[in-house]
Amino acid sequence: MTLTITDNRTGATYELTITDGTIRATDLRQIKVDATDFGLMTYDPAFMNTASCRSAITFIDGDVGILRYRGIPIEQLAEQSTFLEVSYLLVHGELPSQSELDAWVGEIAGHVDVDGSIADIFRGFRRDAHPMGMLQAGTAALGTLHPEAVAIGDADVRHRQIVRTIAKIATLGAMAYRHNAGKDFVPPDRNLSYAANFLNMLFGGDGSYQVDDRVAAAMDVLFILHADHEQNCSTSAVRSVGSSQVDPYSAVTAGLAALYGPLHGGANEAVLKMLRRIEKRGNIPAFIEGVKGGDERLMGFGHRVYKNYDPRARIIKKACDDVFAVTGVNPLLEVAVELERIALEDEYFVTRRLYPNVDFYSGLIYEALGMPAEMFTVLFAIGRAPGWIAQWNEMIQDSDQKISRPRQIYTGYDERDYVPMSAR
Ligand code: CMC
Repeated sequence: MTLTITDNRTGATYELTITDGTIRATDLRQIKVDATDFGLMTYDPAFMNTASCRSAITFIDGDVGILRYRGIPIEQLAEQSTFLEVSYLLVHGELPSQSELDAWVGEIAGHVDVDGSIADIFRGFRRDAHPMGMLQAGTAALGTLHPEAVAIGDADVRHRQIVRTIAKIATLGAMAYRHNAGKDFVPPDRNLSYAANFLNMLFGGDGSYQVDDRVAAAMDVLFILHADHEQNCSTSAVRSVGSSQVDPYSAVTAGLAALYGPLHGGANEAVLKMLRRIEKRGNIPAFIEGVKGGDERLMGFGHRVYKNYDPRARIIKKACDDVFAVTGVNPLLEVAVELERIALEDEYFVTRRLYPNVDFYSGLIYEALGMPAEMFTVLFAIGRAPGWIAQWNEMIQDSDQKISRPRQIYTGYDERDYVPMSAR
């Protein structure tokens, strides 16, 4: 299939090949539009309509609410798989055999410890430092401890950094929590499952805490739901920074920075703070009017790609029941359910196709588990780590990928002379 473009000024025509429903932006360069002769560019500051890469990892159909990792529906993975098996799937492309899975789980467990120098870095932070800031610092520091990571062309070296990233990010996240709480770090326990070990590093340490299997299972599902989401803001940051051929820890740190924002992973923290502010059902109509009037956004609603119910939100809503059976119901659930009901019937949200996203209900679970709101984005980050690192690994091996380097539409001055201070 081709696209024919006719230049009305000159009558010249250009044939552009359409493959995979896209044209190559660089094919437009042959169309000369101005004196600079660089050639026609596309303008897409938020990548609203730009495929930034080719990827075989995650498929989303936002119109109908489909999410698949390596072809497998998220619903099946949440129901039947485990977070580490999903991590294997994302990284390797196929489900593991039992022996492959055992080896993978063993490898991850073998790398959960972090160097003592990282503990010193964490202790250097103020007690009230945001855990996402600490997680970024800790992740960047991993690059200094594993200098071999710069050899990104070596598949074995890449594999070791993939394992380390998935293994250590949970330890770093738990350390950030413990530092905020003014408590000693709890060393990882290699004999526990990934989620149980994480919970134990958060709440264990004094011998009185026993990880509840149902809570660990729910945590595992939450990690699975967050594990990848194709070219979202943080993954795009990982790919873009990684395209400079920097080590993967630096690239993942860029992803963490992007995730921290309230329009991305920071939304789960913002949702809980919003629900606390609304406080009770009776306050919802006034809140909704404020949103419609442009005062603020309904956090946890809307998505760039999903123009239908986010399938992850549906699964999380179900996971709420499992967790609340152990912890007791979070009283804010009632506010959230009513807020969703009212919003889904309101013309403002209906016409804009705004539905609950993954962040709308997750915070309620995290809070019921005893997590402070500041930790919510850290939980998202731990879940997203396999996706980031799998996407990074795919990008490094993609022969089409050069350094990410967009162009711009220059809107500044033409050339002008420097004016000495005395003449200004
Ligand atoms: N509350 C109120 N209005 C909204 C919302 C919202 N949550 N989201 C979008 N809109 C309106 C927006 O004002 C605009 O209206 P209009 O056409 O009248 O100007 C229209 O819907 C389209 O919005 P947009 O900002 O152009 O859409 P986008 O694709 O750029 O933004 C989004 C996507 C997720 C950033 C946005 O929906 C949002 O800010 N949601 C709240 C934050 C949130 O929950 N983020 C988590 C996203 S899912 C997990 C993740 O990625 O981390």
